[in-house]
Amino acid sequence: MKILVTGTAGFIGFHLARRLLAEGHDVAGIDSMVPYYDVTLKQRRHAILAERPNFRAHLVNLADMPATSAVFESERPEVVIHLAAQAGVRYALEHPESYVESNVVGSFNLLELVRRHPVRHLMLASTSSAYGANTRMPFEEQDPAVTPLTIYAATKTASELMAHAYSHLWRQPITAFRFFTVYGPWGRPDMAPYKFTDAIARGLPIDIHNNGDMQRDFTYIDDLVEGIVRLADAIPVQGQPVGAFDSLSPVAPFRLVNIGLGEPVQLLDFITEIERCVGKAAIRTYLPMQPGEVTATFANTRLLQALTGFQPRVRVAEGVANFVAWYRDYHGG
Ligand SMILES: NC(=O)c1ccc[n+]([C@@H]2O[C@H](COP(=O)([O-])OP(=O)(O)OC[C@H]3O[C@@H](n4cnc5c(N)ncnc54)[C@H](O)[C@@H]3O)[C@@H](O)[C@H]2O)c1
Repeated sequence: MKILVTGTAGFIGFHLARRLLAEGHDVAGIDSMVPYYDVTLKQRRHAILAERPNFRAHLVNLADMPATSAVFESERPEVVIHLAAQAGVRYALEHPESYVESNVVGSFNLLELVRRHPVRHLMLASTSSAYGANTRMPFEEQDPAVTPLTIYAATKTASELMAHAYSHLWRQPITAFRFFTVYGPWGRPDMAPYKFTDAIARGLPIDIHNNGDMQRDFTYIDDLVEGIVRLADAIPVQGQPVGAFDSLSPVAPFRLVNIGLGEPVQLLDFITEIERCVGKAAIRTYLPMQPGEVTATFANTRLLQALTGFQPRVRVAEGVANFVAWYRDYHGG
């Protein structure tokens, strides 16, 4: 199948594209190599994908409509998986405009191009941050998502809402995923698993916010990719929910699906796993809560299971060991 993936030089897009290529799909990747974190890491991911003859990279900014349109004209994808975004909860405090450009304008352009060139299934990435200040756990797709705490969350929720409108108006099947703290090899240097591992390995202090009193539903990258690949076949059909808990829209072939492990872990326990794998104790600096952070995330995965028969399974001990092994290899020992 011809699949267009946006954000292929990014952490999740790279892993997803690699899996799709290995399965024999024809993959076109879009990425503008945003220098938000080390571009060398992005180039190395793309170089691995480029080893496959069925991969084509387009270094295009989704906010640039003529350039993105040209990619659609030449590629004519059957399925689109939109992962490109300005991510990061903390960076959003200083650079809010980049979130509007990538997540609102970029996603709008993509929706508009899919309207002109309809696809079997459009999937797009959203985030557990969409649940904002919600405190009812676990987070369920039918819960209201109206209290975003950062411009990151607000722009991702905006892309969900725009996608719903397009799905309704143009009968385009769309699935919006909400991912929960994803980690693993080739991961993001701006996220806690990488930052903590790097600092502990180098003997540098780590910043622990809210005195470590935080829980995250850490999701291993292979589980996440498995969930996405299986959901690609679960095309939403209006009027055909899989249960009372289905987030399927009553007026559009559109649904939201959590992809998370469904087992929140204390941040301090996560750090202990990293210490064990690195073989060094962390130097801990305890700090107050950061603005825009939430204390806990926890995915209800019932809908994912009902749609795909799949339940994420990689626990932190295994996932962190794999990540630290990759970190050592990547950074030369
Ligand atoms: N990693 C997580 O824990 C997590 C959690 C929740 C949601 N998400 C979502 O998953 C998706 C992928 O995240 P990731 O962790 O791989 O992030 P990432 O930053 O590694 O990858 C995103 C990629 O998109 C590209 N990009 C950004 N803006 C672009 C634009 N305007 N045009 C073209 N390319 C652009 C970047 O260069 C980058 O390579 C994002 O939509 C993110 O919001 C990730």
